[in-house]
Amino acid sequence: MKLPTTHLLPGMKLAKPVYGNCGELLLNRGVVLTSRYINALKRNNVIVVDVDGPVPYDEMEINETLSEKIRVEAMRVLNSWVKNLENTPISSIFESVEALLDEILSGKAVIDHLTDICSSDLYTFAHSVDVCTLAILTGIRLGYSREKLFALGAGSLLHDIGKTLIDPAVLNKPGKLTPEEFKIIMTHPAKGWKLIKNKKGENEVHPRSMNIILNHHERYDGTGYPRNLKGSEIDEFSMICAVADVYNAMTTDRVYRKAFPPNEVYEMFQASGNTKFDLRVINAFLSCVKPYPAGTLVRLSNGTIGCVVSANPPLPFRPKVQLIPSGEILDLEKELSLVIEAPLSPEEAQKFVISYGP
Ligand SMILES: [Fe+2]
Repeated sequence: MKLPTTHLLPGMKLAKPVYGNCGELLLNRGVVLTSRYINALKRNNVIVVDVDGPVPYDEMEINETLSEKIRVEAMRVLNSWVKNLENTPISSIFESVEALLDEILSGKAVIDHLTDICSSDLYTFAHSVDVCTLAILTGIRLGYSREKLFALGAGSLLHDIGKTLIDPAVLNKPGKLTPEEFKIIMTHPAKGWKLIKNKKGENEVHPRSMNIILNHHERYDGTGYPRNLKGSEIDEFSMICAVADVYNAMTTDRVYRKAFPPNEVYEMFQASGNTKFDLRVINAFLSCVKPYPAGTLVRLSNGTIGCVVSANPPLPFRPKVQLIPSGEILDLEKELSLVIEAPLSPEEAQKFVISYGP
């Protein structure tokens, strides 16, 4: 299960390797945390790690769409490209998209744990890689060719590139934005588009990828920006990126608010078809994410606590749950008298890991 580094305690065991911002291995899977290790993780700006929970990872059906190493490498490439826009060829970004695409197309097509928490300066890069992954998965569900998936992925990876030209004090402001500050934020799609549009030769970005940079804040009902496009005026690539962008932002902690639990965001999206987003895109997107990812600790309607171990795709709100501490596995697809009442909060989850964990 995922825990913020602020909630880690000595004695907890890492369930997955932890990589630094440059892709280097910091601590390997199976390492038992000490105070020194926990402090080192905080110093390296690692915000969340996976620790063994009450149910061992080996018993869970974890679908890793993207290895942490490829994800961190894509973040690093994006970061170094932004720092040296004039001299670094954009082809390095294209290579990252190819690597992401290869990994995703290698057969694993469900996301469990994409929503890491990131510090504000790294947020844009981590968010861009995650949006790119979610967009590619949605494109696969829509039957896109590899060529289309590449253009969709490249545009999604670059969608917020204009934010690098926005004053960081406005971009990372912890409180509510003033109308003037929001106007500044609203310039990032056009700024990003202008930044990329004159690239030629091997650095030229596909026009459909360019559309994503400009249109990813447009909304189906015409309430988006910068051009208030409506319905079919918005290209499908941009609509896919918009859905992935909002989902990933809502399920991630930000400087100004806590993340919404995935089940709440999933329900909001189910109710939003043909209002903010195109219904066909929403349905394809929701088949790629889960309201209760494996490893989520949940409270059932009879008061018992359990850990989600695998999903039932036709009934996403009725997964298989392993009860704690008995270990009995309930298939909520069959146990129709029970429902999941709510996921445990990170604080409640932490108490369970300490009580029943390693
Ligand atoms: Fe954006």
